[in-house]
Amino acid sequence: MAGGVNTPQLAAAVSNAGGVGSFGFAYSTPQKISEDLAATKAMTKGPINANFFIFSPVELPEPALQRMAVEAIEALPVPDHFSISIPQAPFFPALDKQLEPVWEQRPALLSFHFGIPPGRVIDQAHALGISVGITATCLKEAIAIQSAGADFIVSQGIEAGGHRGIFEPNANDEQISTVALAALLAKHCSIPIVAAGGIMSGEDIRAVLAAGATAAQMGTAFLCCDESGTPPAHRDYLLNRQDRETVLTKGFSGRVARGIENTFIRRMAGQPTLPFPIQNTLTAPLRQWAGKTGDGEYQSLWAGQAYARSRPMPAGEFMKLLNAEMGSVPKFNPIVDGNS
Ligand SMILES: Cc1cc2nc3c(=O)[nH]c(=O)nc-3n(C[C@H](O)[C@H](O)[C@H](O)COP(=O)(O)O)c2cc1C
Repeated sequence: MAGGVNTPQLAAAVSNAGGVGSFGFAYSTPQKISEDLAATKAMTKGPINANFFIFSPVELPEPALQRMAVEAIEALPVPDHFSISIPQAPFFPALDKQLEPVWEQRPALLSFHFGIPPGRVIDQAHALGISVGITATCLKEAIAIQSAGADFIVSQGIEAGGHRGIFEPNANDEQISTVALAALLAKHCSIPIVAAGGIMSGEDIRAVLAAGATAAQMGTAFLCCDESGTPPAHRDYLLNRQDRETVLTKGFSGRVARGIENTFIRRMAGQPTLPFPIQNTLTAPLRQWAGKTGDGEYQSLWAGQAYARSRPMPAGEFMKLLNAEMGSVPKFNPIVDGNS
């Protein structure tokens, strides 16, 4: 999970308890990536996953639209303690630079969101013994991922918190649910399916395994763990404002993402936004101000549809609880058990 939520302490606790501790390194500098991987490796010998975004080339739209996007933010009813300016290129970090510490430190897994990395990246990972996973939100994307030589597919249901991993942001989104998508991909693909979206308990994990997934990926469920870097207001809304709905919004970043509805999302509905990730940079000063003042109404409170089932506790304890809830189910393996 990008945005400082993943800490070495959280990743290590998950890996030490038999899971795969993950990092969302989407916007991170090579130095931060290197430090986080090294710090985690010092605390666990278990598998770690490094996750990156596949950014598409992007340009600023015409000046009139730029002005409208800035005005939409400036019109928000917040004190004027931050300044908004049009971001300048480069609009996103260079993947090859971000991957340098990955090649050095060799986490067991490397995963990508929003598309397929260049073939040379997959080849390099394989040469170093690193498994590659890529998010799919539909069958077409899953088949492209398998054809590209990836080792597993992260099957992201519409329930999932955070950014929707759809390859083409403007394409029709089938919005398939977690269990339905996992079953569909397990039937048509021969590589393992890692189901994601709304999975909060051991019983939920059993459900996706029964549907044909090999593993479960959980985001929101770990946001309230003690070791997580979730900002206090985000944590507060997850635990104490559970009557709020989650909604899909492009307002924060320019790409569709699911979070707890707040004033920002309501006010930005239908407003012009800059393309992803330029909008993310545009809204950064506002989000930073909201983070400093603890105002959850202007932060991106990313959360899956099932966030109201969050259980705050240390991550190692949570992993034990998940295992106990799962019980000893025979694991369905789509590779061995076939495309039945
Ligand atoms: C706070 C937050 C940040 C996220 N950041 C990323 C990310 O950087 N890369 C990624 O592949 N998925 C990201 N996701 C999506 C997760 O990979 C996963 O699809 C999602 O958490 C599953 O749904 P759940 O949150 O209901 O468990 C994020 C999710 C959340 C809640």
